[in-house]
Amino acid sequence: MNDEFRSLFPLTSDVVYLDSAATSLTPTSVLEEMNDYYNKYCANIDRGVHHLSKLASHRYGDTHKKIGELIGCSGKEVVLTKNTTEAINQVAFGLDWSKNDHVITTVMEHHSNFVPWLRLREKGVKVDVIGIKNGQIDLNELKNKITSETRLIAICHASNVLGTINPVIEIGKICRENDILYLVDGAQSTPHLPIDVQKIGCDFYSFSGHKMLGPTGIGALYCKQKHQEKLKPLMVGGGNVSNVTKTGYTLKKGYHRLEAGTPNIAGAIGLTKAIQILNEIGLKNIRKHEEKLNKTLIDELRNLDGLNILNPDIDRTGVISFTIKGKDPHKIALQLDQKNIIVRSGNHCSQPLVEHYNYDKVIRTSHYIYNTQKEIKTLCKELKKLI
Ligand code: ALA
Repeated sequence: MNDEFRSLFPLTSDVVYLDSAATSLTPTSVLEEMNDYYNKYCANIDRGVHHLSKLASHRYGDTHKKIGELIGCSGKEVVLTKNTTEAINQVAFGLDWSKNDHVITTVMEHHSNFVPWLRLREKGVKVDVIGIKNGQIDLNELKNKITSETRLIAICHASNVLGTINPVIEIGKICRENDILYLVDGAQSTPHLPIDVQKIGCDFYSFSGHKMLGPTGIGALYCKQKHQEKLKPLMVGGGNVSNVTKTGYTLKKGYHRLEAGTPNIAGAIGLTKAIQILNEIGLKNIRKHEEKLNKTLIDELRNLDGLNILNPDIDRTGVISFTIKGKDPHKIALQLDQKNIIVRSGNHCSQPLVEHYNYDKVIRTSHYIYNTQKEIKTLCKELKKLI
């Protein structure tokens, strides 16, 4: 978490990278680990008796185990997916829904934890979207919306626009008391906070590798063992069947039944390395580092005329969104880009949330372990000039 640490990443250090909520940088060692697979033991998994396949299968299986250790479950409860979106779609379209089943989600969600639920309306499922107050979930509204037909609550652990860390344990209790399935979208929390799915008490937890130092194209779904056989796979074909005849097929057991086709083997191996790096640094240390950067950033941004931070006072990850009076967010992002400062502008795949604040676009800065106090000050200095 200093200049030396930044040198572990291939992107040149003259770029101030503040778009980690979209994707984090990938350490050189993660890239090397993936290259090793292609260079030294490239083979398909679970499909050959030869030693290369055995080694690749072992390394791929190890990713399930390491994810399990990271989030507090058995590796058998980890389904590897392409990303968070696939993980959530697997739940939304894998469960067997009845007409009038009821789902509750929130206005704070990324589209990946929102659109799949809206789509269930095609099956007659009722979907309620609860609001927020001061950047936080309105728990009273959540409780009031629960009916005897409520089947699932889907909520993000941390917002990709506001950074808000939601009271997921408290919501977990509400779900258990009311016998409701509970899905937590961990895309913005798994890279930043220690996660324990048992403490959260969720049935499903999803996240993406590329936001936590891993490569793109690999993510995971924690699916409580008792639900695995209930989920209908999104895809069938090679890899997830144990017996096929001219008239039918039998699905494999466990997570294998939800992982059809040749998976992203190199990506999984890269993700294992990324998890090792996160463990070495320690999620608690990552959190502390981000909190310090948050403090500097918010203190400095508050002093800039016409700059409006979306909910400066919430408990947050390293994500801060803001607008500047009279300035177009995309234009600001482009002007910062000219100074080699990378931020994201737009609705951040969270249109209902951004519209809740009566904007169509906002500027978002999101930092991570490789960012320094100096970089945060550089951003603020450039913003001051632009204003
Ligand atoms: N989910 C990513 C973001 O918030 C793409 O930027």
